[in-house]
Amino acid sequence: MFIGVDHVGVAVKNLNEAISIYQNVLGFRLEGIHVLSERGVKVAFLSSGGETKIELLEPLGSNSPIAKFLINRGEGIHHIAVKVKDIDGVLEDFKRKGVILVDEKPRIGAEGAKIAFVHPKSTKGVLLELIMK
Ligand code: CO
Repeated sequence: MFIGVDHVGVAVKNLNEAISIYQNVLGFRLEGIHVLSERGVKVAFLSSGGETKIELLEPLGSNSPIAKFLINRGEGIHHIAVKVKDIDGVLEDFKRKGVILVDEKPRIGAEGAKIAFVHPKSTKGVLLELIMK
């Protein structure tokens, strides 16, 4: 069902500052920056050298879910994204099992991938992103 951890999402107040730290101090390689206006976020993907990336997320406005996350929890890990082969199949399976979903149907995320979020209430407090590339 799962292929691996695609990325770990980190909520940050200032994307440029966070990129600078992750790139220049910590040594991750910047792969790309995307503005996802419909989701209210600007994101940067950084390579860890392996399959799993870091996604830095900055809110675009005060209505952004990331803005709310920063107020409630501060900067830090926001979600874990797992790669799946068949996102519709996984969502159907989860629905059957009563898993609480943020997205009933997949939507298009950064880099054209199909994504869907699973509610932290069903995952012991971790916002889980399913991603199919
Ligand atoms: Co993500």
